[in-house]
Order: sequence, then C-alpha cells, then structure tokens
Amino acid sequence: MSKLIINGGNRLIGEAGIQGSKNSVLPILAATVLVKGESVIENCPLITDVEATVKILRYLGCKVKREGHTVTVDSTDADKYDIPDDLMREMRSSVVFLGAIIGRMGKASLSTPGGCEIGLRPIDLHLDSIQRFGVNIKEEYAKIEFETVKPLEGTNITLSFPSVGATENIILTACMAKGTTVIRNAAREPEISDLADFLNRCGAKISGTGEGTVVIEGVERLYPSKHRVIPDRIVAGTYMAAAAMTHGKIHISSVIPAHIAPVIPVFEEAGCDISIRGNDITLTAPPRLKSIKTVRTMPYPGFPTDMQAQIMAMTTVCHGTSVIIETIFESRYKHVSELLRFGAKIRVDGRMAVTEGIDKLTGASVISSDLRGGASLVLAGLAAQGKTAVDGVKFIDRGYENIEGVLASLGGSVTRSERNEADGAGEEQV
Ligand code: UD1
Repeated sequence: MSKLIINGGNRLIGEAGIQGSKNSVLPILAATVLVKGESVIENCPLITDVEATVKILRYLGCKVKREGHTVTVDSTDADKYDIPDDLMREMRSSVVFLGAIIGRMGKASLSTPGGCEIGLRPIDLHLDSIQRFGVNIKEEYAKIEFETVKPLEGTNITLSFPSVGATENIILTACMAKGTTVIRNAAREPEISDLADFLNRCGAKISGTGEGTVVIEGVERLYPSKHRVIPDRIVAGTYMAAAAMTHGKIHISSVIPAHIAPVIPVFEEAGCDISIRGNDITLTAPPRLKSIKTVRTMPYPGFPTDMQAQIMAMTTVCHGTSVIIETIFESRYKHVSELLRFGAKIRVDGRMAVTEGIDKLTGASVISSDLRGGASLVLAGLAAQGKTAVDGVKFIDRGYENIEGVLASLGGSVTRSERNEADGAGEEQV
C-alpha cells in the first residue's frame, strides 16, 4: 500500500507539461475494437485506468503493444463479447466498451460497472439509448445481456441529461448502425470531440460534437489510423490549484486553453493572474487568495465536477467564505471529512458546501477514497504546515501520471512511501 508523504509549505514555482487526457484515452481505446487493423494511439498517460483498459482489450482478443506513451491496438482477431466482472469493477468507464462491442459483435455481456466512490452511478441512459438501435436487453442480478436479431439501425435519441458516457456509447454504436443517428442534448465535453476526431480519422461520419446535437451516419467499416490524445484539462487545473494554494507561479505548456476556460474565472476571482499565450497558460498567485462567491458544477462548458474537490481544497485557505454547489453527482463530498483533518472549516448541507478560509492548514494523516478527492488532499498537504501522509494513493494513480514527480519538479516536497503495513513499518507518523 503506497502513501504520498508531503512536507508542506513550499511555494510551487516552475513549468509543467500536461499528460494526455484520461477521459479521452479510455473511450478512444475502447473505440479501437470497432477497427479491424492496427490503431496507434499516442499521448496515452501512464495511469492505472489505462492499464485496466488494456487488460479489457486483451481479454477481448485484441493484440496490444505499449511503448512509453503510445498504445498500439490490433483488433483484427477480437472475438469475445463479454467483460468479466473483475475487469468491470476496476473502473466505471469500462461501460464505454458497450457501444464498441455491440457495434463490432452485435451482442455484449456486461456486469454493472465499478469506479470511484462518488455516489450512485446508474447506467439507465446508456441502456435506454442502446435499446433504440434495436438491441434487446436482459438484466439478471448484476449481469446485463445485449442481443441483436437484425442489423443495428440508426435512431433519434434525446438524452434527459447530457451524460458523457451515454453520449460516447451512442456514438460508438451509431458508427456501425445502418443509416443516421441523431443525439439531442448530447454531452459537449472536449473528450467526446476527441473520440469523434479519432473515429472520423478511421472513416466514421460524425458531426456536431461540442454543440449539443450530434449526427452520425453509419458506415460499413472503419480503417486503422493514428491519433494523438488531447491534454488533460483536469490535470492542468489540478496543478494550477496547487500553485495557487502555495502562493506560487506555474507555467503550463501544451494545453488547450479553451478547454480550461470554465475554471479560469474561479482562479481569477481568487486573485490569481492568468496569462494565456497560444497553448501555454501561466498562473501567478497572490500572497493571500480571496474567497469565491459561488462555484456550481455543471456539464461542459460549465465548471467541471472533476475540479470541485481541488477547488474546495483551495477555498480552505482563501480569505473569507466560499460556496460550492455540486449538481452532477449526489455524493461527491467524501474528501470533506478528510480536509477537516487539516483544520479546514467546511460545512456541507446536501449538495452545498460552505468553506470559511483559514490562514494555515496543518499537516494530517488522511485517506483518499476517490480520484479527484484524493488529489484535493495532496493539494491541502502542499499548502499545510508540517507533514502529511495521504493513503489510498491507488485512486490518485487512476488518473495522475507520476503526481509526486510533477509536484517535486515544481518544488513541492512529495515522495511515495511503499512501506509494507504488514511489517508494522507502514504507519507514517504525522
Ligand atoms: C464522465 C467522466 C467523469 C466526470 C463525469 C461528469 C469519463 C471516463 N468520466 O463520467 O470523470 O466526472 O463524466 O463530467 O469520461 N447518469 C445517470 N444515468 C446514466 C448515466 C449518468 O443518471 O445512465 C448520471 C450520473 O449518475 C451522474 C450524471 O448523470 O449523476 C453524470 O454522469 P455522466 O456524464 O454519465 O458521467 P460519466 O460518463 O460516468
């Protein structure tokens, strides 16, 4: 069981390159199942969610090669249409294989997906949508069987909520369906456009991603191609928050500033200076951050729920009262009880969290129980006086490549301790 050990108080100053996007690479790797031949995906981050995705691809019968940040997938011989329970449980995004497997095999068998502990994550929108292509669905206990008796047929779907995963699954299924599919109230996240860019490069006909109505013309087959995954806007935002909380200055290179636009006003409200040049962003923090009136998480282009925990960590050291309202997930405040251990003052009432900023957090021993919540604890540790130990690093490793290395390169004192608790040597005294 590894832990991150942080000696807080250092100002983070320097330059950081940003890894490829987790939320892009997962559906793109799943999409390679639709391509008979060798897909080359570049800029794949070295994170455990990618490892879990590769395991699923191999189980399905794909030949997968990993060389650094490039993953090559040859799906020519893929012949399985199920995903075993243990692989489904490793991450919730495994549900995005559904559209790809059905598109390729005309049938699929999945158990209900796993993932972060951030509340109920139903897949009703995925199931309702897939059914509309003429797929029969049978649910038994935790197993779901999908079958087609005739070729998939394009359809019109209006989502009651712009679900990211459901939009991706519909796109994947629709690529191989006969005729036209139209998705209304589709999610507009940049990662969906990245998925469509990859598929279009393979010969798919997808238009309108990023605009709310997506139109997909089904095609006979997809051809192998090469694609570079977009930079991870959430990782960029996390490191910006780290610099802001430590009164530092960070220069982030090779990002797509438009993707980060929804979080920039929050940093500016806190008193940070942001300058954007081409694909580079520089954040310079003031000596004391100001509070943030209200941040409300919303589907893109609103403020991302995946930045809620990190911004909450930031508000704990802002001068004054800040309010956060989480509208996307009903139980995404698991980090609050851990942030309180640093001395933070946060009250939660339903979906609203109110923070009274304090001058200094104090290092603590904390446990992360989800990816972004875990990142928020690392940020608190960086800003705190004294030593912090963050347990549950496996959640952070799902989405951050070498987080300790990146933060250390900016001047943070962050190391990974791999000591074995069974030896009695694992308890870091803080
Ligand atoms: C994706 C992201 C995740 C991000 C989330 C919201 C990936 C791999 N993950 O997750 O990082 O936090 O978008 O931006 O891209 N819902 C239903 N029924 C469904 C599907 C969703 O009720 O069938 C609800 C969910 O419970 C949640 C909300 O819709 O409350 C948003 O979910 P969705 O957009 O589907 O998120 P994910 O695709 O799971």
